[in-house]
Amino acid sequence: AKTTVSVIKADVGSFPGHSRTHPKLLEKAAQMLKEVEGTIITDSFVTHCGDDLELIITHTKGEDNAEIHELAWNIFMECAKMAKEMKLYGAGQDLLGDAFSGNVKGMGPGVAEMEFEERGSDPLLVFMADKTEPGAWNFFLYKMFADPFNTSGLVIDPSMHDGFTFEVHDLIEKRKIHFHTPEDIYSLLAYIGAPSRYVIKYVWKKNGEIAASTSTQRLNMMAGRYVGKDDPVMVVRAQSGFPSVGEVIDPFRTPILVAGWMRGSHHGPFMPVGVCDANCTQFDGPPRVICLGFQVSDGKLIGPADMFDDPAFDLVRNKCCEISEIMRNHGPFEPHRLSLDEMEYTTLPGVEEQLKDRWGPLPE
Ligand code: F6R
Ligand code: MG
Ligand code: MG
Repeated sequence: AKTTVSVIKADVGSFPGHSRTHPKLLEKAAQMLKEVEGTIITDSFVTHCGDDLELIITHTKGEDNAEIHELAWNIFMECAKMAKEMKLYGAGQDLLGDAFSGNVKGMGPGVAEMEFEERGSDPLLVFMADKTEPGAWNFFLYKMFADPFNTSGLVIDPSMHDGFTFEVHDLIEKRKIHFHTPEDIYSLLAYIGAPSRYVIKYVWKKNGEIAASTSTQRLNMMAGRYVGKDDPVMVVRAQSGFPSVGEVIDPFRTPILVAGWMRGSHHGPFMPVGVCDANCTQFDGPPRVICLGFQVSDGKLIGPADMFDDPAFDLVRNKCCEISEIMRNHGPFEPHRLSLDEMEYTTLPGVEEQLKDRWGPLPE
């Protein structure tokens, strides 16, 4: 049977403020998943990045499976209940509906899934971020799968020489397109360089084998009001015809600016950290990313390895601190604050609403 990996996440409450998930919620989620191990699911691992509760689940039911999504939904509801009892902050904040309706997409949680035939050995990397948006993965996926200066396998390894296919979603117009690299790289970059609107959803080998899958949910667009950023997740397969583990994580030594951070309204550096540092503190951030590495073996998750818990990533972390300083010194000014069209989806329009009667016309 094929193996499916489903990474499903939600912020159902945290402490203090929006900084980290409470260990009792992690325990509850892990226990609820254990109860169905061997029946509904094959294996699971629970962790958090900042205020986001992350469920990593393996099973044999394929993507978008109602039973798996309902299981995740029930876990989030149960954890939200505990969060409410403890008066954790933002308890239940990402759960937009009351009743489950077959698929958690569109209900608040973020989902990245992939189904594949296991190879002889299948290394898998799960990335989880807080205080940023789904398009944050664009830069890194491009580097992994299309940039030979990052991934020497594209040049050296005959099994990668063909390149990859990227599926890009337009979150505003609700349309999708496939780009084939290397031949389409300029066209691909024309879109994914605008990550608030265009996000890479999948990457495949040209023979159709799945290589990477991301969550693309934009919570504020679903709720029609500001309910936090979308704090995305991503699953990437590595080795033997895919980028090696090292080629998959190396792009994160580049400290790029992403949208999110405080109030989902600021650009800040995207900092790779070990799980012990996956807590958003300084100015509710800075935006950060963790990566857990596994071997998948008959659906079992062998691991995890905490990939960014490594002094080799100290330099990028220090650079992120310096960039953070430069950005923070702008205070409420752009480009630290997001551009006005992106601020549409924050609490700023409420301020304009309060002030609109005080505006008058300019003299002729
Ligand atoms: C960002 C985030 C936090 C909150 C901020 C204000 O995604 O979750 O930065 O936006 O702490 O939170 P409220 O409005 O709940 O006081
Ligand atoms: Mg929160
Ligand atoms: Mg979050």
